[in-house]
Amino acid sequence: PLADLPEVESDSLLQLITLCAADPRPEKIDVGVGVFRDGAGNTPILKVIKRAEEILRETQETKAYLGMQGDKRYAELLRPILLGPLADDARIAGLQTPGGCGALRLGFELLALAIPSARVHVGTPTWPNHPPIIRAVGLEVAEYPYYERGQGSIRFDAMVDALSAANAGDVALLHGCCHNPTGADLDEDQWREVARIVAKRGLIPFVDIAYQGFGRGLDEDAFGVRLMLETCDEVVIAQSCDKNFSVYRDRVGSLFVKTGSESATALAMKHVSMRAREMWSMPPDHGAACVRIILDDAALKADWLVELTAMRDRINAVRQRLAAADPRLAFIGRQWGMFSMLPLSREQVLKLREDHAIYMADSGRFNVVGLSDDQIDRFTAAVVEALNG
Ligand code: LMR
Repeated sequence: PLADLPEVESDSLLQLITLCAADPRPEKIDVGVGVFRDGAGNTPILKVIKRAEEILRETQETKAYLGMQGDKRYAELLRPILLGPLADDARIAGLQTPGGCGALRLGFELLALAIPSARVHVGTPTWPNHPPIIRAVGLEVAEYPYYERGQGSIRFDAMVDALSAANAGDVALLHGCCHNPTGADLDEDQWREVARIVAKRGLIPFVDIAYQGFGRGLDEDAFGVRLMLETCDEVVIAQSCDKNFSVYRDRVGSLFVKTGSESATALAMKHVSMRAREMWSMPPDHGAACVRIILDDAALKADWLVELTAMRDRINAVRQRLAAADPRLAFIGRQWGMFSMLPLSREQVLKLREDHAIYMADSGRFNVVGLSDDQIDRFTAAVVEALNG
């Protein structure tokens, strides 16, 4: 009976939202879940999204179903942004999903269907929701070393060794840019080396790219994705617009799949469409319709790029401020995207929560732009105190 269900631990990242909200201390600092905030500590709706919503309200004539693949024009318009010069490659096809999380689930559903014996190699650490999604489709999770917390650097040799020992048909899960939770991205030479190994071993790269434009720039952040597509016949990509369009709760993502032939890709799309039908029938329309309106209009697209650049500039400015505060935080200035991971124990993280009302993930991951401008000094002082231990 339902009454006999076992206890379940709620998602640690999403739980932080509730914990922080319940803290009555006015000076509390929320650097938990990955949401962009401006210097004043707000997550405003982008002006260009507001404009697109007005256009949508004025022009939308029906809310009749669109179909399992959602808004096809939306997925079409993402191609140049994500795929760049490969946008016209007919062996690559995509469809709309409910956020990056929906794209991950759908991509792994497809892999489980095609290669049920595949092991999925994930870096340690990775986004805590990756392993549960992989296990939910019945695939096995294997780990490769990725990041050395104390050093603030990538364990590249160990990563290469682990991937070199993977079996043909296994999957390598890679973060396209702005690594979550560490902020430590592969450089271009490292991407080339990983692509070489993945191709040589016959692995399928699965690239999760949820923060395109939050690191160095839209094209720069897509370097790894495009390199994998150039190097490998079979690639799966989970993409998200939730962050770079700041539409988090509207759940705007897409899944792109490349196979060796146009017909095999078309068949894969039929399978993922049927999987989508079983899970959510079709993705929610509103956010993707707004993104479509923006990308379909040169002026609105230019406005979006201005707002995206402002978000990226703030992320990188906060990084530089944190890095300058203490030599032990210098690594933060060499990393990308919203997250970095502090070399703090779980006990130290909990003590920061208790003593300073600072809410970060138990792993020591924190959202650099969770900090408003006037919280940065207090945050660094508390962190340095914790590091002095
Ligand atoms: C995060 O890692 O904080 C974000 O991706 C939000 C989430 O769903 O966990």
